[in-house]
Amino acid sequence: MRTFSLFSSLLAISQLLLLLPSTARGSDTLFRGGTVLSFDNATESVKVLYNTSVLVSGSQIVSISPQSQNVTLSPGTEVIPSEGKIISPGFVDTHRHLWQSAFRTLGSNTSLAEYFFRYSEFTQAGTVFTPDDVYYGQIIGIYESLNAGVTSILDHAHHTWSNATALAGLNASIASGARVWWCYAFHNLTNGYTREDQLADFEYLSQYGPWRNSSTTTLGLAYDPISLDPPSLVQTVVNVAKQQNVSVITAHYLGGPWGFVNSPVLANSYGILNTSIPVVFSHGSYLTVQDAELLRSTNQYLSITPESEMHYGHGDADSQLIQDQAALGVDTHFTYSTDIVTQARIWLQSVRLLFYNQVRANWQIPRNNPMSANQAFLLATRAGGLALRRPDVGVLVEGAKADIVVFDGTAPNMLGWVDPVAAVMLHSNVGNVQHVMVDGEFKKRDFNLTVGDDYAEVQQQFLNSARRIQAIWEATPLPDLEGDYPYSSGILYGEAVTVDVVRGNSTGY
Ligand SMILES: *[C@@H]1O[C@H](CO)[C@@H](O)[C@H](O)[C@H]1NC(C)=O
Ligand SMILES: *[C@@H]1O[C@H](CO)[C@@H](O)[C@H](O)[C@H]1NC(C)=O
Ligand SMILES: *[C@@H]1O[C@H](CO)[C@@H](O)[C@H](O)[C@H]1NC(C)=O
Ligand SMILES: *[C@@H]1O[C@H](CO)[C@@H](O)[C@H](O)[C@H]1NC(C)=O
Ligand SMILES: *[C@@H]1O[C@H](CO)[C@@H](O)[C@H](O)[C@H]1NC(C)=O
Ligand SMILES: *[C@@H]1O[C@H](CO)[C@@H](O)[C@H](O)[C@H]1NC(C)=O
Ligand SMILES: *[C@@H]1O[C@H](CO)[C@@H](O)[C@H](O)[C@H]1NC(C)=O
Ligand SMILES: *[C@@H]1O[C@H](CO)[C@@H](O)[C@H](O)[C@H]1NC(C)=O
Ligand SMILES: *[C@@H]1O[C@H](CO)[C@@H](O)[C@H](O)[C@H]1NC(C)=O
Ligand SMILES: *[C@@H]1O[C@H](CO)[C@@H](O)[C@H](O)[C@H]1NC(C)=O
Ligand SMILES: *[C@@H]1O[C@H](CO)[C@@H](O)[C@H](O)[C@H]1NC(C)=O
Ligand SMILES: [Zn+2]
Repeated sequence: MRTFSLFSSLLAISQLLLLLPSTARGSDTLFRGGTVLSFDNATESVKVLYNTSVLVSGSQIVSISPQSQNVTLSPGTEVIPSEGKIISPGFVDTHRHLWQSAFRTLGSNTSLAEYFFRYSEFTQAGTVFTPDDVYYGQIIGIYESLNAGVTSILDHAHHTWSNATALAGLNASIASGARVWWCYAFHNLTNGYTREDQLADFEYLSQYGPWRNSSTTTLGLAYDPISLDPPSLVQTVVNVAKQQNVSVITAHYLGGPWGFVNSPVLANSYGILNTSIPVVFSHGSYLTVQDAELLRSTNQYLSITPESEMHYGHGDADSQLIQDQAALGVDTHFTYSTDIVTQARIWLQSVRLLFYNQVRANWQIPRNNPMSANQAFLLATRAGGLALRRPDVGVLVEGAKADIVVFDGTAPNMLGWVDPVAAVMLHSNVGNVQHVMVDGEFKKRDFNLTVGDDYAEVQQQFLNSARRIQAIWEATPLPDLEGDYPYSSGILYGEAVTVDVVRGNSTGY
């Protein structure tokens, strides 16, 4: 935001005046002698550096050097011994709905059609969730990410049901200290909060929101379904987004029978794609060749959400063919895992299977492996930064933002590793995430979240909120999915086979 650089200069000056070097935000940290997953700009590939130290000053990585080489440390630098540890850039999640934490486990066997009418932004959530419910759901959703080493999140924030619920999610994003692209959602609501109201609030927040409290949360725009809106409305929203110079624009793209055709082709027809603002399309089910060409020619990205696309059956994605313009995302964390390493692992193995199948379909035996662990690692880190046009995010190089994850390489599932990228991508779990730093500040330290003294209180408030919400949802009948599917014409509901793993007459559940 425009105001920020002025504010940060003032902050720097005020810190100088206060002269509190040991406690001031931004005192230096040295991760000493770990194995660093860096990036080689010349060859555009992962560069593993052994016995290497990483020096953080303020919000930046200022040096990466061999452990044997003495670095000059300013007084008060904290040294974190990192022998046996694997030091990774923070992971980047390019698609989330952070407010939904209170639904956790309720949708374990839901479907996408059921989701639309039971858990989405268009349901009773818009009247049942208070600003506090949004706040606690949002912040707990972010804490789950931080705990897993996910330091950057693009939040498709469709909790914008009123000025107050919008502000609550924004407040929580800022309070978390994570790097959040908080994307104010424009949507066609039935609760009386009109598009005009939303536009006014968006412009108000852009100018007067609590941005100066944060160096890590920025304002983005989420918008769908663009394809169902009148062109004049779309043009108005797009113009406002450009005027406010949002940090990113995002939309769900579910083509084919789903009818949310927020495609690159459509976005381009509104002049959204070929500007300096990054645009991220989530899912890309039924992505066309023309869409892919446009992503490449305008350098915009697809957010692949592997577990979401399997859980809900978005279907028919050709995402494996556009991985050079793709990053990874989580989507609805109340239904499954949130850590990007798990998403990358699911994606890696499913891409392998897919390309193996093509060889076996010819009755041949695959000679080689189609996708490496390094490729999955780059999708989970650097590609996310590039999707947001932030080359200083998702890489562990000098000058990049100090978003850092330290894995304990001595845990039983890690011990003995030779290739640290393979150790992280294929063997690690969230329990191995020992330290997490965002923008130079610890958010997890020695396996514990360090998110403020009020964490226990936040947990309690979230539980109170979640229990209230869960009781309401459990008492709400499931939607009746009969006849026509409403978002596309001539599309009916159909029945998927249900599996029964128990012999005999069990119910299948
Ligand atoms: C890395 O290369 C890109 C171009 O590919 C360039 O824009 C960027 O400045 C380089 N970064 C560093 C740290 O050299
Ligand atoms: C790193 O340091 C350890 C202990 O000092 C040493 O045993 C090991 O050989 C070093 N590894 C590399 C790759 O230099
Ligand atoms: C680094 O500093 C230590 C202690 O200050 C000293 O013993 C060692 O020789 C120095 N190493 C190099 C490479 O300068
Ligand atoms: C799974 O689906 C069945 C059938 O709709 C339902 O009875 C059951 O409660 C669901 N389980 C969960 C955990 O949602
Ligand atoms: C959000 O923060 C502002 C202060 O910046 C405060 O006035 C407001 O009450 C907060 N709202 C919620 C719902 O947290
Ligand atoms: C922003 O900072 C001001 C002043 O410290 C504080 O009053 C306000 O509550 C903060 N707002 C948020 C959303 O953190
Ligand atoms: C929402 O915020 C906008 C922008 O400040 C304002 O014009 C509008 O009156 C607010 N709506 C309500 C219901 O407070
Ligand atoms: C908004 O939703 C209402 C009913 O839910 C529908 O009648 C109307 O056509 C929708 N408008 C747009 C622009 O999609
Ligand atoms: C828009 O914001 C970006 C940073 O997000 C900045 O680099 C760029 O200069 C801004 N453009 C305008 C026209 O203000
Ligand atoms: C994007 O704009 C540039 C000029 O700014 C132009 O050269 C290029 O052809 C445009 N690409 C598309 C796909 O419109
Ligand atoms: C982590 O938290 C637990 C439980 O609150 C506490 O017992 C333990 O001392 C903490 N560990 C560190 C290193 O702070
Ligand atoms: Zn989504």
